[in-house]
Amino acid sequence: MEQKEKILEKIKNLREKIEYHNYRYYVLDDPEISDHEYDLLLKELEKLEKENPEFITPDSPTQRIGGEPLKKFENYIHPFKMYSLANAMNEGEFNQFLTRVYKELGTEKINFSCEPKFDGLAVELIYRNGILQVASTRGNGEIGEVITQNIKTIKSIPLKIKNNNIPEEMIVYGEVLMFKKDFLELNKEREENEEPLFANPRNAAAGSLRQLDPKITARRKLRFFAYGLKSTSPNNFSNSHYERLNYLKELGFPVSEERKKLSNKEDIVKYHQQLENSRENLPYEIDGVVIKIDEINLQEILGYDAKTPKWAIAWKFKPAKATTILKEVEFSVGRQGTITPTAIFEPVFLAGAKISRATLHNFDEVKRLDLHYGDTIVIERSGEVIPKVVEVIKEKRPPNSKVVIPPEKCPVCGSTLFKSLDKVALRCINSSCPAIVKGRLKHFVSRNAFNIEGLGEELIERFYEEGYIKNFTDIFRLKNKKDTLISLDRFGEKSVNNLLNSIENSKKIEYFRFIYSLGIPYVGEETARLLAENFSPIETLFTISKENLLSIYGIGETVAESIYEYFKNENNKNLIKELLATNIEIKYNNKEIVEHSPIKAKKIVFTGKATNFTREEFEELVRKYGGLATDSVSKNTDYLVVGENPGSKLEKAKSLGIKILSEQEFLDLLGVKNESNSNT
Ligand code: IVH
Repeated sequence: MEQKEKILEKIKNLREKIEYHNYRYYVLDDPEISDHEYDLLLKELEKLEKENPEFITPDSPTQRIGGEPLKKFENYIHPFKMYSLANAMNEGEFNQFLTRVYKELGTEKINFSCEPKFDGLAVELIYRNGILQVASTRGNGEIGEVITQNIKTIKSIPLKIKNNNIPEEMIVYGEVLMFKKDFLELNKEREENEEPLFANPRNAAAGSLRQLDPKITARRKLRFFAYGLKSTSPNNFSNSHYERLNYLKELGFPVSEERKKLSNKEDIVKYHQQLENSRENLPYEIDGVVIKIDEINLQEILGYDAKTPKWAIAWKFKPAKATTILKEVEFSVGRQGTITPTAIFEPVFLAGAKISRATLHNFDEVKRLDLHYGDTIVIERSGEVIPKVVEVIKEKRPPNSKVVIPPEKCPVCGSTLFKSLDKVALRCINSSCPAIVKGRLKHFVSRNAFNIEGLGEELIERFYEEGYIKNFTDIFRLKNKKDTLISLDRFGEKSVNNLLNSIENSKKIEYFRFIYSLGIPYVGEETARLLAENFSPIETLFTISKENLLSIYGIGETVAESIYEYFKNENNKNLIKELLATNIEIKYNNKEIVEHSPIKAKKIVFTGKATNFTREEFEELVRKYGGLATDSVSKNTDYLVVGENPGSKLEKAKSLGIKILSEQEFLDLLGVKNESNSNT
């Protein structure tokens, strides 16, 4: 008993430490320990909780990476209606708001809480006795959707409020968003994988929050800012909204430091101007300022319209737009052969940056714009981040200008282009097109793949052009050309040694990174993780069927098709075998895999009632021994294991001539003793 108490003490201690460091990192932006030290703390806690599951609580930091995927989001009736905000598009409209408020309240002596208008998604967090119980989206204002699991993955949101002097129920309102830098990083990764890009950080945040699988949300870097506080229980909250924000900050919630309490029009106009000018420098996007009457009882007097409070207004910023002339359209070739058009135009200044190129996304977009060379075009920096062409001013089109048409030949290798299956993208299908080969090599060495330090995009270009690297395996054979490399321009013994060392070091690679590095169409990091978790060792994938793939939650028809096609192709299988022959060591995820197993990469089906193990244990055993447990018998099945009262699978297996094993024969084959089969 005493022992248990000690463990509990230790667990509590670790939880506090971890949440303290979350706070330092995500709220104060001022970490005290390294990521590695943080990971060690979390690992230690995970271990203790695993050994003592009775001590797991919903507010433990381990619960942030949360649980199983949902089938759907449940509805949630908000305790108070969640209103949206009326907009003012210019100073005149803001003046109208002020005039109305002054008139209705019969005074001009009013304080206003002025805050940034965050460009993200509104959420409601309900704490009971200080513990985060329910988090929900706004929905239609009355009913939202429960997203508690996903919200818990946001580390700046307290799972537990430490202060004891809080009401029994506390409702915190705020915005979930993605920082600009995290958005750019996410999109860069998606671009490299030729996955559809998010148009702006808001969409990225929305897409990440509306994931049924919280593990996906956990990998996206979401943030939160609180902007409202209410309660249904007796409370001693301040009558000032501004003070409530300060209080929220005290309780550990992130609150924007741009907030200000102001009491006259001139100051508010200045505040609006200042934030509009400095919005570029904020780490997150804002699209205006929100001006709220500070005193809660005055707010109540003014009341609400159907959808918006009468005591607040969102005074929006002008979108950053500029007009310029289209000079050219550049067609680039991605590593999967997708041709992407980019507009090249006379340089313009837009929200503080000089730009001369903007994405046109795809050829449907070019058609929609009816783009002609020499057109006057309107550029917008959507969310201040990626510039795009939003409009063509047709009246200004020069006479006889030529319409922009998709190329017929690949701009790099000259081979004929084809429409991809989705009919939108145009593709070069020449697998030895230099653009594709170089793109794949760059992907292979990139940070989330083999992560070969010192072998960046430029060096890949150079080594490709000079013939040192033409395919993945060439990278690991570079060491045989050491002397030649040293003699190259801008190289020396030291830099070559460094490069060869980092290449050697990269050979120990996590399984999912290995899969990701192959550059299989539609297989980004998330899908690579799913494959790694479900199908190991790698040889299992060589004979994978579409059904096996579709049985994984999170893999849909298109992705399954793409993976299946990839592994059906002998060239791809040979490429992987060649790679493995260079002594690459794939690190299979924590769960050990038996190296030399008679069922390695074999497909095994079970039928009937198992007596020696549960179905889960059977699947686990097959997985551990490198096989693949599948549901139905087909000609590709290697073994059928038969329990009591076998079903129709037995007949089918017999008719297909598939090897049939009893439970005992199966265990004998693996060399597993009967009693302790599931944990040998
Ligand atoms: S207060 C009753 N404060 O804007 C007032 N909202 O257009 C409701 N928003 O749904 C919200 N920044 O998602 C408030 N500082 C801020 C805000 C803010 C962004 C969002 C919020 C709301 C939307 C309405």
